[in-house]
Amino acid sequence: MGDIKVFKTVVSIQSILQSDYKKSKIGLVPTMGALHEGHMTLVQRSIKENDCTIVSIFVNPIQFNNASDLENYPRNIEQDLQLLKEQGDVIVFAPSVSEVYPENFQTVKLELGQMGLVMEGKFREGHFDGVVNVVNRLFEIIHPAHAYFGLKDFQQLAVVQYMTKKFALDVKIVGCEIYREKSGLASSSRNQRLTESQLIEALVISQALKQAKISAIDKSIQEVIEEAKRIFAASSLELEYFQIVDPTTLMNLKEWKSGAHACLTAYCGEVRLLDNLQLKPA
Ligand code: PAJ
Repeated sequence: MGDIKVFKTVVSIQSILQSDYKKSKIGLVPTMGALHEGHMTLVQRSIKENDCTIVSIFVNPIQFNNASDLENYPRNIEQDLQLLKEQGDVIVFAPSVSEVYPENFQTVKLELGQMGLVMEGKFREGHFDGVVNVVNRLFEIIHPAHAYFGLKDFQQLAVVQYMTKKFALDVKIVGCEIYREKSGLASSSRNQRLTESQLIEALVISQALKQAKISAIDKSIQEVIEEAKRIFAASSLELEYFQIVDPTTLMNLKEWKSGAHACLTAYCGEVRLLDNLQLKPA
């Protein structure tokens, strides 16, 4: 069992960082809580690669474009702290909205171009502006050497990498593999909202992605997309998008290229689930 210290204000976390961790290499794992094994793979990696690991837990209101999604987002700090304790020594930063966004807060604007207009940018208007602002603010407060993000949110990782480059930030962004349940379902805080039968129905997501990878060997991109759409049409899930994109620009591909990546979101009942898979080796 590790030692967990929890800080809720910017002043308190900055003062401990100044006094006790001034020369330490800091790893930051930004999260919105409702932690699960997927988050823990990021935490474990940070513990391994840094002197000190900070996990932020903050449900960022400005990245939600849907009020009921924000309201229904699972929150369970006690359980989160217990899970973190099992990993090792961790500092938790769990600020309130007014700590992250004080009255004099100046939002930053990053021109994302096409990258911000496709997939999550298209279906969740303003989402990435919210992500860019909170991640930039967390970096400003904590000044991590390394920051850990999951490939689960493939586009988010690309946006954060782009932001770090554009703002010339002195932090290394570390992308971590998707953690999946034994069933194949990608772990997600939102899975908590699925019923037992929905947890089984949702397996069509990873199955469709796996099938796409097999079909990618000898089928065209259009054929692979059509096949995925048919698989979803025969299921109880409602596919929002299934796209095969360039891994860096996130633009739709017409022809196969190395690193080609399938990204999708689908609704299982009310719950919006997101997943992706690399179809061609990089
Ligand atoms: P959240 O959804 O809590 O995820 C926190 C981090 O954990 C993200 O980098 C996400 O990609 C990663 N993650 C979630 N599930 C994962 C899985 N199954 N395998 C690997 N990594 C996984 O993403 C956010 O929060 C927010 O947008 C945030 C970056 C904290 C900004 O508010």
